[in-house]
Amino acid sequence: MDKLKRTKILKIKEEAPDILTFRVQNKLGGIKPGQFIFLSINTVGEAPISVSSINEDYIELTVKKLGLVTTALFQKKVGDIVYIRGPYGNCFPTAKQYVLVAGGFGLAPLKALIEKKQKNVKKLFYGAKTFEDMIFKDELKKWQFSELIVERKTKGCHLPTGLVTDLIEKAKMRPISTVIICGPPIMVRFVSQSLEKKGFKDKKIYASLEKTMYCGTGLCGHCNIGSYYVCKDGPVFRLDNIKNFEEKII
Ligand code: FES
Repeated sequence: MDKLKRTKILKIKEEAPDILTFRVQNKLGGIKPGQFIFLSINTVGEAPISVSSINEDYIELTVKKLGLVTTALFQKKVGDIVYIRGPYGNCFPTAKQYVLVAGGFGLAPLKALIEKKQKNVKKLFYGAKTFEDMIFKDELKKWQFSELIVERKTKGCHLPTGLVTDLIEKAKMRPISTVIICGPPIMVRFVSQSLEKKGFKDKKIYASLEKTMYCGTGLCGHCNIGSYYVCKDGPVFRLDNIKNFEEKII
């Protein structure tokens, strides 16, 4: 297991209810968009976290309050120390043109890719339950290539209502881009069906999957799906490689 590196929290930003972005010193190096790290808190434990921004001096970790470690992290303040190790997993594929599809919290790892490859992003389809649940609201205002949709309108929200698949079905696009989908498995399934109707081939579609993880290095077997380990062989999988497993993944 990689050695834990001590790092300082430099900034904390609220994104949505129970979702914060923590900027910490980049003590790892070599992280690529799509990869994840483990964040550890003394006496509590550690959790895998995807990286939402990668810079020479700092990385950003967008975190949903879900378990013991993230609850402990939410009590930390700017200047406090946490520990990180990694990076782990594979990264998003390189492509000349990307179409990105995200649901809710799934936008977190894609932000790191958008920041590095903005010129190559043709479209971002992003859906969430409500506008309040959307993350990176400041960035979304600047990303001209984004199309947004919410399941439910709240006061003052002028976005269309529906699912992210509705945006894809209405969109005019040639099926030549590489697509990356980040969201829950059910969303990945319906989005890939909508894309296939538009003529996109499985070999051009990638999904980032989530599984319970402990070691991050392919040793403990916790993140096994079919013949793969999400921590080592993923988290990014090409659709044709995960579609036909006996265990229903998507
Ligand atoms: S987390 Fe241990 S094998 Fe993947």
